[in-house]
Amino acid sequence: QAQQRQTAQRIKALLKERNAVMVAHYYVDGALQDLARETGGCVGDSLEMARFGAEHPATTLIVAGVRFMGETAKILSPEKTVLMPDGDATCSLDLGCPADEFSQFCDAHPDRTVVVYANTSAAVKARADWVVTSSVGQDIVAALHARGEKILWAPDRHLGSHIQKQTGADMLLWQGSCVVHDEFKADELQALADAHPEAAILVHPESPAEVTALADVVGSTTQLIAAVGRLPTSTFIVATDLGILHDMRLRYPGKTFLAAPTAGTGGSCKSCAFCPWMAMNSLLGVEQALLHRQGVIELDAALGLAARKPIQRMLDFAA
Ligand code: 13P
Ligand code: SF4
Repeated sequence: QAQQRQTAQRIKALLKERNAVMVAHYYVDGALQDLARETGGCVGDSLEMARFGAEHPATTLIVAGVRFMGETAKILSPEKTVLMPDGDATCSLDLGCPADEFSQFCDAHPDRTVVVYANTSAAVKARADWVVTSSVGQDIVAALHARGEKILWAPDRHLGSHIQKQTGADMLLWQGSCVVHDEFKADELQALADAHPEAAILVHPESPAEVTALADVVGSTTQLIAAVGRLPTSTFIVATDLGILHDMRLRYPGKTFLAAPTAGTGGSCKSCAFCPWMAMNSLLGVEQALLHRQGVIELDAALGLAARKPIQRMLDFAA
């Protein structure tokens, strides 16, 4: 604890010295979220992180999250230095959608508008007409559907089929999934809900359809946090990475949060729903990044330019 405080103090000085700001996701360690907040940075969902990084005047961005978040920051701000506490922190959705295979998939369906989730590499984004995050994906697909467009969607199959159900759009789905959310189990969740009939169920849409079907609220991390403030309920069952509880408890200390059960936990999960790649982010990693440019994000300029268009479309749509 004392050591952590000292590291945080050193980072605060380095951030000022290097004209840097921190952009953190809700799933990273609470100490990183606190540091981002205390130093005028941002803690947010993927869309908010992208927007904050692009609009902030700092010349260096420290992105505490996973690789696609750092890449998105670099795509939107090629002139800035973008550093990550661990440049190897990836995402199973990104890993499960290699650019060459994805490109062949797109080539085979030239009549479809290509919509990709932000959890993808720059090369996959460069092939897309639209990039979306979980907070705006449904609205964007609904607008495309209203214009009569057929969609090719990648990579998360659960988010894709959730949006398909909500909008009625014609969507061809890539079959990727998130290793964390894919593990939530409907039967165990129902049993927990039966034991806590007063609780509201919050579900991230990367979860399987049977789990999403039990939700009172389905949404991005920020939307789930907002739901805790909005609903009069005092108990919540949360089906997403448990890193989010740090922010929920901070904002709503009087409310009770229960972890949704994952596979093999018999309904008593305490520590299973944690993304292994988000967990690679640490205070020491932030310090090393600032001191030695460790985890610097480099991106081919032409690739960055191609990937920027579909991201900018999303930001303009969501403005
Ligand atoms: P959000 O955009 O909802 O924060 O989700 C990002 C993510 O990786 C969820 O697993
Ligand atoms: Fe990717 Fe899932 Fe981790 Fe989010 S929680 S970064 S979707 S592996």
